[in-house]
Amino acid sequence: DSGSFVPAVVIGTGYGAAVSALRLGEAGIPTLMLEMGQLWNTPADDGNVFCGMLKPDRRSSWFKSRTEAPLGSFLWLDVINRNIDPYAGVLDKVHFDQMSVYVGRGVGGGSLVNGGMAVVPKRAYFEEVLPQVDAAQMYERYFPRANAALKVNHIDPGWFEETEWYKFARVSREQAGKAGLNTTFVPNVYDFDYMRREATGEAPKSALAGEVIYGNNHGKQSLDKTYLAAALGTGKVTIETLHRVTAIRQQADGSYVLSVDQSDANGTVITHKEIACRHLFLGAGSLGSTELLVRARDTGALPHLNAEVGEGWGPNGNIMTGRANHVWNPTGAHQSSIPALGIDDWDNPAAPVFAEIAPMPAGLETWVSLYLAITKNPERGTFVYDKATDRAVLRWTREQNAPAVEAAKSLFDRINKANTTMYRYDLFGPQLKNFSDDFCYHPLGGCVLGKATDGYGRVAGYHNLYVTDGALIPGSIGVNPFVTITALAERNIERIIAEDVKVAR
Ligand code: FDA
Repeated sequence: DSGSFVPAVVIGTGYGAAVSALRLGEAGIPTLMLEMGQLWNTPADDGNVFCGMLKPDRRSSWFKSRTEAPLGSFLWLDVINRNIDPYAGVLDKVHFDQMSVYVGRGVGGGSLVNGGMAVVPKRAYFEEVLPQVDAAQMYERYFPRANAALKVNHIDPGWFEETEWYKFARVSREQAGKAGLNTTFVPNVYDFDYMRREATGEAPKSALAGEVIYGNNHGKQSLDKTYLAAALGTGKVTIETLHRVTAIRQQADGSYVLSVDQSDANGTVITHKEIACRHLFLGAGSLGSTELLVRARDTGALPHLNAEVGEGWGPNGNIMTGRANHVWNPTGAHQSSIPALGIDDWDNPAAPVFAEIAPMPAGLETWVSLYLAITKNPERGTFVYDKATDRAVLRWTREQNAPAVEAAKSLFDRINKANTTMYRYDLFGPQLKNFSDDFCYHPLGGCVLGKATDGYGRVAGYHNLYVTDGALIPGSIGVNPFVTITALAERNIERIIAEDVKVAR
């Protein structure tokens, strides 16, 4: 395989990557996707592709000897995590000094492990964050295009009101209402019709069996079922799994050469490949794409990359928190793992917050109300190249999350006051802690649009080199990010195919 050439390579198989590959394939461009994770389509001995949340095994985690669930404890006890064999599992937690980032690994990237919440950002905030992007075009053309291709659907409000599986959300809605706060339904890519059949016992349970962060065996319309299936259907796109790109360099004729390690699922490197291409699309996610470019710049492989590469990173203001309800206000032993409601206080100028009402599908009554708050935190981190480890290291301090905690606190203090309730202090590890401020699900930025790239994701200083994923978004978007990542990738690839790729053929 060494020395092979393909016209286009896409690194990764998450949202930005999947959009780019589909549109390149449709344009007739032979395209190779390189994904470091596995293809998740083969049942293991237990008959399931993915393991559940309550009994995780090696399939759950990317090379860990113990699972690292976001809620690490209950009553301060380490009862949630399990020892496992290191393996190419589906959820990774990447640790930096003062921030850890959850990411999906496998064909479909984050879509395999995320909550499926498909939210179009508030237009005013989108315009504030990405002023150089034509918002009218985004809201009229690319957001609808993304929603259709992602198979975004809506929960039936009547069913939501009556089902035991969303009692937790109704309880939180009522309590938010007492504090004068509005809630809104949140669309999803999980098939809500399928979920109703789970509830009646007509279909195998997935969302209603607590599956989500380690993969859904049913119901979730992840990218492998949508964009990537369509991309493969063009006959022009190929996906290689357990292929990790380690370095990028450029040849005298302008083509790019990738160094790639192919491993087995236990992590043993089997082969080293060099793959050349004319057009190179980085869709390895905010962490992955940024690391590849920071490394390329600082090792001298791509010396013309500008100083903006590595800048502008943020966790989308993510803060998790839990509240303890009164005994007479149970949240339900049965909870769907797919969120359906958000508390929308984004227009509050003092502390904008959009808080997902998150389930805690423990299978027993916990009286816990759980939330993922998305706040507006102006702090940004920077990736720097560490020569000793050959990794990009995130410079971000815990204190930089203080504005996000403050905003979340101002909202949940109001809810607690109105309901005479308290925070839970036992959910985020052994110490007394009511706000998670050291991990996130929504890494954004590192190769910001219009700074490290032009207005369409073309990397500054180079031709035919593109960033297509969450690295383009400058650290915050105010809602769960994958619809924005998808729509922005749709917008950019349309222009790039018309102006760069077709011209070169
Ligand atoms: P993404 O991270 O999806 O894909 C990158 C891919 O590239 C991965 O498959 C990775 O393995 C691969 N890769 C990385 N480096 C590589 C290399 N060097 N070589 C080869 N392959 C490489 N968002 C939302 O909108 N709604 C939600 O409900 C949630 N919920 C949620 C829950 C959890 C638990 C997580 C972890 C995340 C979410 N998110 C979310 C966030 C969402 O999943 C995330 O924003 C997107 O997946 C990011 O899409 P990207 O295209 O940027 O990359």
